[in-house]
Amino acid sequence: MQDGSARPEGQCGPLFDTAITRLFGIRHPVLAGGLMWLADAPYVAAVVRGGGMGFITSRSSPDLPAFEAQLTRCRDLSGGLPFGVNLSTSRHTAVPLMDYLDAALAAGVRHFETAGRAPADDLIRVIRDSGAIVIHKVPTIRHALTAERLGVHAVALVGMECGGHPGINTDMPATLGGAIAASRLRIPFAIGGGIGTGGQILAALAVGADAVVIGTRFLAGAEVSAHPAFKARMVAAGEEDSAVAFAGKTALGGAWRVLDNATLREVRRREAAGLAEHADFADLLAGSLSRDACYRDGDVERGMLSMGASACFIDRVEPIGAIIARLMGEAAAARARLARLAVGQSTVSLG
Ligand SMILES: Cc1cc2nc3c(=O)[nH]c(=O)nc-3n(C[C@H](O)[C@H](O)[C@H](O)COP(=O)(O)O)c2cc1C
Repeated sequence: MQDGSARPEGQCGPLFDTAITRLFGIRHPVLAGGLMWLADAPYVAAVVRGGGMGFITSRSSPDLPAFEAQLTRCRDLSGGLPFGVNLSTSRHTAVPLMDYLDAALAAGVRHFETAGRAPADDLIRVIRDSGAIVIHKVPTIRHALTAERLGVHAVALVGMECGGHPGINTDMPATLGGAIAASRLRIPFAIGGGIGTGGQILAALAVGADAVVIGTRFLAGAEVSAHPAFKARMVAAGEEDSAVAFAGKTALGGAWRVLDNATLREVRRREAAGLAEHADFADLLAGSLSRDACYRDGDVERGMLSMGASACFIDRVEPIGAIIARLMGEAAAARARLARLAVGQSTVSLG
């Protein structure tokens, strides 16, 4: 049995063999979900080298050549390991969704994370016909069952704790959703939202999930292409530093969990004043605000900066591979703890 301790190169041997580690051909049951502006080639390559699966976020690229350049760079950086692409099925994207998909397939990508509306039949058909794998990310069991019916290989169920958009899910935590999903879904599933320790990964597997989806815990990763001031803010963040805007307001995109900063407070002020049209918030919601003012220039008070409470587990800037190795070491320690707690240890083995 491997103990999950860090190998000399900062990596960690496999601890768990699940339907999703097999589906994605990965060492650890860790999926790094798409991150607008941040899940680029260096980030995704670092995730896959660390033993997880990462997804280049297609809509961060302004045009097809820029997206293709990210794919080429990721192939170079990932040392031949497979990597994935995140496709948004709901948002307006600079490039038609099927064009992103065609470019990714042409570049040899065989792993996709879709998120947003239920994926269209033709999207799933093209992915499946290419021999590729698709996991669709959803906020509720109802949406997970729809995705299963549509033919995706797996679903990722995110709880209300998640950084970014929990969609209409503002009261279902990840492990409760996971426990319900375990008895309703036939396909493999991951759970996400608030996961920042290896003990939580073990808990996810214990309720029946085959992997976890993580975003926030990786935000101060050395390979993340954000300003050092943003990473320092992530290191400083506590469990009360995230907040939700637009809960229940589907016209404004639904709930959005972000860093509690000056932009979020202004959003809340306008919400309290009864403003409810997208145009009332357009200056604050422009993606370029977070991209330029914060991630590029380091002003952490500006922009809607997706982040969840698991930022409290970020204690330093370090390579993504080291974070994954730490998480898996913690999962091994949690598993050993359960074995010690088991009554009648001589006959019951959890190890
Ligand atoms: C900064 C940031 C940006 C995100 N952008 C996207 C995105 O563009 N597309 C997407 O599908 N999910 C996006 N997410 C959600 C993540 O992929 C993942 O589902 C979520 O972060 C998991 O919850 P956690 O942050 O509590 O770990 C984003 C999350 C964060 C923190």
